[in-house]
Formats: sequence, C-alpha cells, structure tokens
Amino acid sequence: MRQTDTPFIDACFGRETEYTPVWFMRQAGRFLPSYRRLKGGRNVLEIAKDPELASEVVADAVRALGVDAGIIFADIMLPLEAMRVKFRIEEDVGPIVSNPIRGPSDVAALRRPDPETDLPYVYSGIDRAIQKLDGRTPLIGFSGAPFTLAAYMIEGGPSRELAKTRALMYSSPETWRLLMKSLTDMIKDYLSVQVKHGVSAIQLFDSWVGCLSPLDYNQYVSPFTREIFDSVNSVPRIHFCADSSALVEEFHRTGPEVLSVDWRIPIEDVWRRCDDATSVQGNLDPAAALAGGEEMEKRVTDILDRAKGRPGHIFSLGHGVLRDTDPENLRRIVNTVHARTRRKTK
Ligand code: CP3
Repeated sequence: MRQTDTPFIDACFGRETEYTPVWFMRQAGRFLPSYRRLKGGRNVLEIAKDPELASEVVADAVRALGVDAGIIFADIMLPLEAMRVKFRIEEDVGPIVSNPIRGPSDVAALRRPDPETDLPYVYSGIDRAIQKLDGRTPLIGFSGAPFTLAAYMIEGGPSRELAKTRALMYSSPETWRLLMKSLTDMIKDYLSVQVKHGVSAIQLFDSWVGCLSPLDYNQYVSPFTREIFDSVNSVPRIHFCADSSALVEEFHRTGPEVLSVDWRIPIEDVWRRCDDATSVQGNLDPAAALAGGEEMEKRVTDILDRAKGRPGHIFSLGHGVLRDTDPENLRRIVNTVHARTRRKTK
C-alpha cells in the first residue's frame, strides 16, 4: 500500500512533520555487513533480478539504519537492457557499455521496451518490499534521467567531462533529440508501472547533468525532464543532481516537489533561490559521514541550523554512501536529526 501520511511524504509536500525525516542514497550497499552477507557472490544486477533478495536488501537497510524511507533495489542501467544496450557494471568503476551510441543508426536500433513484461522482477521486487516494510516506511521508486542515461550510452563508461556527450549534443541535435525522446518515453512507462505497484514517491537521478550550463540545460534537457515529471501523478517527485548549484532554478522549473542537492551549495540557498516553493533533500558531504566523529556531528547540526526547522526538509547525504562508511555513523546521523528536530508538532 502506498504511504501518504509519514514524515517523509509530508516533508516532500512541504507539510509540518513530527521530526525531519532521513534516508540515504545507496543505503543498501557494500558498507553494510548484512548487505554483504545477503549479496554473497552476486553482483548488483543479479540481486536486482531476484525479487526476494532485492526486497530483502531494501528492508534490511531500513531496519539496520532506522531511516524513514526505503528505495527499491535496482540500477539506473537496468531498463536499458530492454532497449538493447549492452553493458556490465564493474565494481568501483560503474557501468561500461560495449555498443555505445555514435550516430543516428545507433539510436534507430534502440527498442522501445514494455516495462511491464521486460522488467517483471522490478515490479515483483516492489510488491515484496512494500510487504516487508509492513505499511510503515514509504518505498521510493526511481529511474535514471534521460541525460545521465544518454551520457553512459554515448561515453561507453564513466567520464569526468562527458565531452563526447556534449559534442554529440552540439553537432547532431536531431540525433540527440531522438535519443532523449526514446529515453523519455521509456522512463515515463517505467515510472508509471512503479507507481501502479505502489511506490510512495519517485526520484529521478540526473547525477551528471551538473556539467551543463543553464542555457544548454534549458535547450537540450529540461523539456524532457519536465515531460517525465508531468507524467507522474499522485506521488511526490524528487529531482537529484550531484553538482547542482549552478542549475537549481532550472531544476525547480521542471516541476518536482523536492530538489535533492549536494554539499557544494549551502542548503538555505536552495529555498532562497526557489522562493521557498520547494522541498529540499540533502545535503551532508558523504565524506563527512565517512569521517565520523565530532566533525560529522558538527556538520549535521550546521545543516539543521541552516534549514531552521522549515517544513520540507529531508535530511540526506549530497550523494551516495561511500563504501568504507561505518554504518554506526549513519545511525548516529539518523538519531541526531530525529532528536534535534522532534520539537516540531504536527
Ligand atoms: O540504496 C540504493 O540506493 C540502492 C539502489 C541503487 C543502485 N544504483 C544499486 C547499486 C540506486 C538508486 C542506483 C542508482 C545509480 N546507479 C546511479 C544514480 C545515483 C548516483 O550514484 O549518482 C548511478 C550513476 C548508477 C550507475 C552505477 N551503478 C555506478 C556509478 C555504480 C558504482 C560502481 C561501484 O562499484 O562503486 C553502480 C553499482 C551499484 N549500483 C552499486 C549499488 C549498490 C554498488 C555495487 C554493490 O554494492 O554491489
């Protein structure tokens, strides 16, 4: 069942909450001993394709950390398989694509997936995860955003500059448009089935779009992002970008309830720049969670002071949990945030 009345969902909609909710990107990951035990010798894609195991790692992370939301266990690359993209995910590197997009014929060769029949394990994993979260903790669905998926498909792997992606965008705008459109159609279908299966919110990961200028973002990306957000009804929508500070206003204009930002921007600037008309998720530096100790506590408190108990704050890291993070540090963050914000009354 979809959750509507929990601190996480209320915060997404900017309503008052009993306390500031917390969850972490990559909260089900190798830093967690129970995840490593459940994982055994399997890789991320194998886990994601096993609904029982995938739902167990979701619920296990929620139990282990005491967070206010779970996130489905999948990877942004998964639905690309059904589009005929060939890739593997290399540990400590990321996705490597063996048939990268070079021109229009590569885009024409992409297949439009039917998410319901092509990705049945994702939906079965959602059904089971919702049961395991026993009606108390909301489950977040997600997809990669068209730009970030296109970047992996064009670069063939992780890249700091995304130069090939930007060069294709500038030199072949029609090929770019067709690629973005085919990804946008896939993502709309994929998210709508996740919502049908009962996820309580959706997050769009545009991890790497921070490499664009606002002008290029508006010309080449934002219409597609807006089309996706417009198509999602009835659950709150979260937009995530890793290096978001130059583009906050543009992200806000694409229509999500929540902007998930990283540590490069003082959190109060997001509200100021969006006229308080947004919820904000973030934004502790994951390296502070890795460091732990007093410095971590100081930085957690600093973010809470900056947020000033406003409704519409979801505490999180600015990006995913780093691999060697002590799970105890994350439990301490959850406890500190809950304890320091509990004064709020609903
Ligand atoms: O709790 C969760 O967040 C789990 C679900 C999840 C995974 N990937 C599983 C995974 C989510 C939400 C993702 C999203 C994802 N995947 C993004 C967007 C978020 C971001 O970090 O910006 C991106 C860019 C990817 C592509 C990808 N997959 C990368 C860059 C990596 C890292 C490679 C590595 O080994 O560090 C992966 C692998 C991956 N996907 C892991 C997990 C838990 C790590 C491997 C493991 O724990 O077994």
